[in-house]
Amino acid sequence: MKKNVFLQKSFLSPQECELCENYMDMKIANGLKQHKTAHGKFWQLQGDPLTDALGKTYENLVSQILDVEVSLTYSIMRNWVKGAFLNWHRNKWECEYTVSIQISDSSWPLGFTDQDSPKIEGVQNLEVINALQGDAVFFKACELYHGRRPLKDQFLKNISLHYVEKGSYNDNLHGRRALGDSFQTLNKPNGGHWEINA
Ligand SMILES: [Fe+2]
Repeated sequence: MKKNVFLQKSFLSPQECELCENYMDMKIANGLKQHKTAHGKFWQLQGDPLTDALGKTYENLVSQILDVEVSLTYSIMRNWVKGAFLNWHRNKWECEYTVSIQISDSSWPLGFTDQDSPKIEGVQNLEVINALQGDAVFFKACELYHGRRPLKDQFLKNISLHYVEKGSYNDNLHGRRALGDSFQTLNKPNGGHWEINA
């Protein structure tokens, strides 16, 4: 990866963003359950066929941009509610290369620090990136601390596409049997199959 974090302007078109917005809105209108957590409220679609398909579609382009051959592990679209925030955190190893796309026609600054422990040392080397609709922030979410201050908008949608290096140990669809399964299936580490919800 050329730099730890960078902004890729106009990664998605306005039409692609609108498609994703409409899709999420229809899911919510049809009963998608809202999550209520310590860091706010949101609706989410994780490993959904639409967003996994988006991640698969852009796998080659992401590989070209990063100059690393990558493989999609999973994707997630969230519709955040005003007041939601993200404390400094790093993601799991399935998020070796993350592409965070601003979907709503607004923005929500994403802060980064390359420190090992910003909560203990205080934040230094802060870098803030402000993606507009369709823009994507590329970063190593499993290595780089990142976070967001409370959302000021009433609602905001974004999508994260998570990739790992192709053929690496974590190139396993985040343990799923297939992409687009909305995390309803899981592979055993030894290659056997079983159902989560059975
Ligand atoms: Fe994260």
